[in-house]
Amino acid sequence: MDSRTGLIVLLCLMGFTWAVPVKFLDCGSTSGKVSIVDINPCPSQPCQLHKGQSSSVNVTFNSGVESHTATAVVHGIIAGVPVPFAIPNADGCKSGIQCPIQKQQIYHYETELPVKSEYPSIKLVVEWELRDDNKNDLFCIRFPVQIV
Ligand SMILES: *[C@@H]1O[C@H](CO)[C@@H](O)[C@H](O)[C@H]1NC(C)=O
Repeated sequence: MDSRTGLIVLLCLMGFTWAVPVKFLDCGSTSGKVSIVDINPCPSQPCQLHKGQSSSVNVTFNSGVESHTATAVVHGIIAGVPVPFAIPNADGCKSGIQCPIQKQQIYHYETELPVKSEYPSIKLVVEWELRDDNKNDLFCIRFPVQIV
C-alpha cells in the first residue's frame, strides 16, 4: 500500500467512525425537540453527498407526545422550491424508533439517504420531517448539502 492509498483509507476510516454533529436549523418541531443530527460520512460541512452512495442519518430527538406512527417526509429545497425527495423507507417505526412513541423519551431516528447517480451536482437544503399520528412534526430539520 503506497502512502496515497494509505491516506485515502485513513480518511475513509475517519469518515466512517467519527460521526460529527451537523449544524441544522429547526423548521418547526412542534411535538418534539431535536438535540443531535449526525450524518455519516460528513467530514466537513456542508455535507457532501456522493452520487451512487448512501449516507447514514441519525437524528436524536425527545418526543413531546405519544404516537403510534412516525412518518418521514423529505424535501430538497432547490432555489427556494421544495422538491419531494424519495427515501427508501418512510416508516420511522422501522428506522430505529420503537413504536408506539412515548412522551418525554429520547429516540434515535436512524436511516439511509441514498443519492442517485443521475442527480445533478448542486447545493441544496435538505428538509427532513418526521410526522406523528396527527401529522405534527416530531422533528423538522434543515441542513445544507452538496451533491458531488
Ligand atoms: C445515533 O446517535 C446517538 C447519539 O449520538 C448514538 O447514541 C447512537 O449510537 C447513534 N446510532 C447509530 C446507529 O450510530
